[in-house]
Amino acid sequence: MDEPAITIRQAVLADAAQIARVYIESWHDTYAAILPKQLLCAMTPRGQTARWQAALRAKSRERILVAQSGRRLVGMTSFGPSRDSDLGFDGEVYTLYVDPPYFGFGIGRALLEAAFTNLEAKGYSSCIIWAHAKNNARFFYEAMGGKLIAERMARMMGDAVPETAFGWRKLALAERQHHA
Ligand SMILES: CC(C)(COP(=O)(O)OP(=O)(O)OC[C@H]1O[C@@H](n2cnc3c(N)ncnc32)[C@H](O)[C@@H]1OP(=O)(O)O)[C@@H](O)C(=O)NCCC(=O)NCCS
Repeated sequence: MDEPAITIRQAVLADAAQIARVYIESWHDTYAAILPKQLLCAMTPRGQTARWQAALRAKSRERILVAQSGRRLVGMTSFGPSRDSDLGFDGEVYTLYVDPPYFGFGIGRALLEAAFTNLEAKGYSSCIIWAHAKNNARFFYEAMGGKLIAERMARMMGDAVPETAFGWRKLALAERQHHA
């Protein structure tokens, strides 16, 4: 596939079903080898669409951005105030998911950059992201300049799940590495 032309924009209510699709497909792709099967199967398009509709209707400080290529949504991110303010970061990216066929085209970077720009415009000065400890996304976060700052055991539907947090003290991504 050629590098797709991408637009990043605020999500609207009508995006909920496509956000759910991207979220589920990316989640399955990432976690098939990591999480128990019953957890993977518990996520349904209907349930996720309802979740994102509720998030888009809510009058909260959570913001949701999508990456669009033609008429297809190929990525999404949600962010807002940090849920662990005692770690010293005021902003948090809650979710960041790219449609698997579109991995590696810079969409994750573009979404994270847009999330940081939005957080900064809202007065935040730093950001934290929690990820599953075995998720390869850690290499992406390191490439983006995030520093490993904390670990915890979370619970997901009764299962213990190890998580690691990456932090950015300033809302700026690492420059892209130019390989000779
Ligand atoms: C992690 C994720 C968001 C990255 O998005 P992406 O669009 O594939 O990444 P990009 O193309 O923007 O890559 C940006 C940089 O990160 C690096 N990178 C991305 N994924 C990587 C990986 N798995 N291993 C090593 N480096 C990686 C790229 O090489 C690139 O580096 P460069 O800018 O120096 O060339 C995407 O793969 C994804 O959605 N994964 C599944 C869901 C997930 O794990 N989300 C995070 C939940 S916490």
